[in-house]
Amino acid sequence: MRPARALIDLAALRHNYLLARERHRGRALAVVKANAYGHGALACARALAGVADGFAVACLEEAESLREGGIDAPILLLEGVFEPAELARVDALGLWLVVHHASQLEMLSGFTPSRPLDVWLKFNTGMNRAGFAPSRARELYASLAGDARIGALVMMTHLARADEPDCDASIAQWRRFHDAVEQIPAPCSICNSAGILGWPQIHADWARPGIMLYGADPMPGEGHGLRPVMTLESRIIAVRDLHPGDAVGYGARFVADAPRRIGLVAIGYADGYPRAVPDGTPVAVDGRPSRILGRVSMDMLTVDLQGLDVGQGSTVELWGGQVAVNRIAEAAGTIAYELLCNVKRVRFEYSGD
Ligand SMILES: Cc1ncc(COP(=O)(O)O)c(C=O)c1O
Repeated sequence: MRPARALIDLAALRHNYLLARERHRGRALAVVKANAYGHGALACARALAGVADGFAVACLEEAESLREGGIDAPILLLEGVFEPAELARVDALGLWLVVHHASQLEMLSGFTPSRPLDVWLKFNTGMNRAGFAPSRARELYASLAGDARIGALVMMTHLARADEPDCDASIAQWRRFHDAVEQIPAPCSICNSAGILGWPQIHADWARPGIMLYGADPMPGEGHGLRPVMTLESRIIAVRDLHPGDAVGYGARFVADAPRRIGLVAIGYADGYPRAVPDGTPVAVDGRPSRILGRVSMDMLTVDLQGLDVGQGSTVELWGGQVAVNRIAEAAGTIAYELLCNVKRVRFEYSGD
């Protein structure tokens, strides 16, 4: 069996969720969209069932598979519905709904649910992606609060630059939001992970932590006590001794300038490990620090074994507890979110349930 695996530590996931909720001091929806950022949505939601106040996903299909898997906690559709026909499923499954656009208000106006629908009204306070103008908050609230088909209402916004500790954009967004909803008797939701960790002064009733649940700190280096949930690892399947001048892999990117032992590892970019990383990107071989040498290929990559007492069959951690996924994201010129979401083909093994 090919040895590439993603080990998912569900106890770490619960630890991170509880840490998020404690830091925020309100209720918290665990964001499990995009297959729980690549970790397996149903397994993660089951591990958090009875712990989390609810879940958030990107679309109806994601919510449906959680309901089918037995998740009966609240589930919020972060982008609401995309077409009117979805509202019947939302009603049948008892989902919560973001409403961020006039077209969604129109869809709602033509639908009579079997029970009042809970709606999160989203306002654009500076991200300019989704959301109504804050100046419409009172009018929209009054109209929905007076509609018997609508149940609980939550006012929400989303932060664009919360992961930048020295940037005051989050405070400016909060001010716009606060001014708009001040007189409205509804709970509010502002913070994603970076907002929870970096901006305690703007916490509100509900948080929406995503990336921090999976142990990737959106503000690396701040020591927030998160535990990595995914370990991506494989094994050395061949060892080779290079002579000076020997080149390794496609494009001959690495050329040995002295005798050097390298190991061939059964994992590559088709598994989600980024092809963009340069020579020197860290890995851990049987717990010992090492580095990538040569270009990452589709199914394999090569690592430096010089001076290490390791060999064929040794375990290579690509990211996890020894090699922070943020470090690899930085080397690849991307973010941990993208790396985690992209993991595929490898075997997923769960522990800590
Ligand atoms: C509306 C909304 N809230 C919360 C989150 C979670 O963000 P993060 O993963 O940065 O915590 C997202 C993620 O994109 C989002 O779109």
